[in-house]
Amino acid sequence: MEKFVINGGNALKGTVKISGAKNAAVAILPAVLLSDSPCTVENLPEISDVSTILKSMSALGADIKAINKSSVVIDPRPVKSYVVTKEMAEGMRASSYFLGALLGRTHHARVAPPGGCDFGVRPIDQHIKGFEALGAKVIIESGMVDAKAKALYGSSVYLDKVSVGATINIMLAAVKAKGLTVIENAAREPHIVDLANFLNSMGANIMGAGTGVIKIRGVENLHGTVYSIIPDQIEAGTYMVAAAATGGDVLVENVTPKHLESIIAKLVEAGATVNEYDEAIRVSMKKPPKKCNIQTMPHPGFPTDMQPQIATFLAIAEGTSIITEGVWDNRFRYVDQLTLMGADIQVDGKMAVITGVKGLKGAPVKAVDLRAGAAMVIAGLMASGITEITEIDHIDRGYERLTEKLSALGAQIKRVVVPKPSSNLKQA
Ligand code: EPU
Repeated sequence: MEKFVINGGNALKGTVKISGAKNAAVAILPAVLLSDSPCTVENLPEISDVSTILKSMSALGADIKAINKSSVVIDPRPVKSYVVTKEMAEGMRASSYFLGALLGRTHHARVAPPGGCDFGVRPIDQHIKGFEALGAKVIIESGMVDAKAKALYGSSVYLDKVSVGATINIMLAAVKAKGLTVIENAAREPHIVDLANFLNSMGANIMGAGTGVIKIRGVENLHGTVYSIIPDQIEAGTYMVAAAATGGDVLVENVTPKHLESIIAKLVEAGATVNEYDEAIRVSMKKPPKKCNIQTMPHPGFPTDMQPQIATFLAIAEGTSIITEGVWDNRFRYVDQLTLMGADIQVDGKMAVITGVKGLKGAPVKAVDLRAGAAMVIAGLMASGITEITEIDHIDRGYERLTEKLSALGAQIKRVVVPKPSSNLKQA
C-alpha cells in the first residue's frame, strides 16, 4: 500500500505536458477487437485503467506488443474467447465496452458487470436497450451480462438519458451491423468523437459524432490502423485548477483548448488569468478566488469529472459558491475529507453549498474515488502543513506520473510505502 505525502503551500510554476485521454483509451482499446488486422494505438496514458484493459485483452487472446511507454500494437486475430470475468475487469467501469466490442465482433459477449467509482447506482439499462434494438438478446445470469445475436441489424435508438457509456457501446455493436443505426440524444464528449475517428480510420462509416445524433452505416469489415489518442481533458483541467488554487502560473501543454472551454470560463469567472494557445493553456492567479456557481452537465457543459477539483478550489473563495451535480446521484462523498482540512461545505442531495474559508490545513485524508483523489491532491497543495492521502490506487487509475509532474512544477509531494502492520504485534 502507498500514500501521497504533500507539504503544501507552494505556488505551482512551470510547464506540464498532458497525457492521452483515459476515457478515450478505455473505449478505443476494446474497439481494436473489431479489426481484422493489427492496430497501432499511440499516446496511451500510463495509468492502471489502461493496463487493466490491456491485460483483459491479452487474457481474451489478443497479441499485444509495446512499442514504447505510450504505444502498443495489438493483433486481435488470435482472440477466440468472448468472456470477460470479474477478475479480468478488476472492478473497472470501462469493462462494459467489451460487451459492445465482442458483440460487434462475434455476436456474443459475456462480461462481468462494470465496477468503477462509487457514485451511487450505475445502471446499464441504456446500453442493453441499444443492444436489444440491434437484435441482441441480453440476459443477466450468474453475475454476468450475456449479450447474444444471430445477426445485428441497424436500428434507431433514443437514449432516455445522455450516457457516454451507452453511446460508445452502441457504436461498437453497430459499426459492423447490417444497415443504418441512428443514436438519438447521444453523448457529445470529446472521447466519443475520438472513438468515431478511430473506427472511421479502420473503415467504419460513422457520422455526427460530437452532436446529439450519431449515424452509423454498418460495414462488413474493419481493418488495422495507426491512431493517436487525444489529450486528456480532465487531466488538463485538474492541472489548470491546481495552478489557480495554489496562486501559481502554469503552462499546460499538449491540450485541445476547445475541450476545455467550460473549465476556462469558470476559472476566469473566479478571477484567474487564462491564455489560450493552439495546443496549450496558461493559467495564473494572484488573488484568492471569487465565488462561483457551477452545474455539472454532459459535454459541452461543465464536466462532472472536474466537480471535486473545482469545489476544492472554491473552498477558499471569497463568498459562498453553489455546486449542483447534474450527472451522478452521489458525487459528494469527498466533502467529508475536505471538511477534515477545514473546508466549510454543506451538502443537500445533489447540491453543495461552499462557504469560502481563509485557507485549508493539512490532514490525513482518503481518496474516496479517482477525481475525489485528485481533489485531495489539490487540497494538499493549497493547504498549510502536511497532508497524507491514502487509498491512492484510485488516483493511479487516471493520472500518469502525478508526483513527477507536480514535483516539476515545484510541489513538495512524494509517494511513500505504508508498512504493513507487523503480524507479531498483539491486537489491543
Ligand atoms: N445512466 C443510466 N443508464 C445507463 C447509463 C447511464 O441511467 O444505462 C446514467 C448514470 O447513472 C448517470 C448518467 O446516466 O447518472 C451518465 O452516465 P454515463 O453513462 O454517461 O457514465 P459512464 O459512461 O459510466 C463516463 C466516464 C465517467 C464520467 C461519465 C459522465 C468513462 C470510462 N467513464 O462514465 O468518468 O463521469 O461518463 O461524463 O468514460 C472519471 O473519469 O472519473 C469518470 C467517472
